Amino acid sequence: MPRASAAKLALLERLARATAAHAYAPYSGFAVGAAVLTDAGEIFAGANVENASYGLSICAERNAVQQAVSRGARGIAAVVVYAPTAEPTPPCGACRQVLAEFGGDPLIVCCGQDGKVRRHRLADLLPEAFGRGNLDPPRESSKITRPPSSQKSKPWRRRP
Ligand code: THU
Repeated sequence: MPRASAAKLALLERLARATAAHAYAPYSGFAVGAAVLTDAGEIFAGANVENASYGLSICAERNAVQQAVSRGARGIAAVVVYAPTAEPTPPCGACRQVLAEFGGDPLIVCCGQDGKVRRHRLADLLPEAFGRGNLDPPRESSKITRPPSSQKSKPWRRRP
């Protein structure tokens, strides 16, 4: 898994902040944006999307991961989260678990409103994570980590 460069992390932060502007958060008023870097070096973003049936709301981090995975990504190297708070907001437990599905031990960078930043590793935020290895029988990663044909997330760019 590649290390996220400072330039890539700066880009992720800009994107996370910009994407928070698209949050649909009429109930909480808490607009969050997240951007993920895949292990292939691609970047995807997401915002939180709430629902009148509150439990159906989804966080920015999970939306960003779903975007990446829906385009063929299977490994998340880094996540940058922006929340409109002075103290950087860490990802919720559900998002940690979803990141654990697709990350080895991704870098998680949490950014607050006033430029305050906190960095974590997923393994520190979610120790002893439940994963495919805990299933009975344990699932092999090689069987489920890649879609059958389209390994690239932009198949329309492929030459014939
Ligand atoms: N939220 C996120 O999108 N990410 C986080 O890390 C924390 C919480 C969202 C969920 C909900 O829409 C709102 O913020 C308030 O919890």
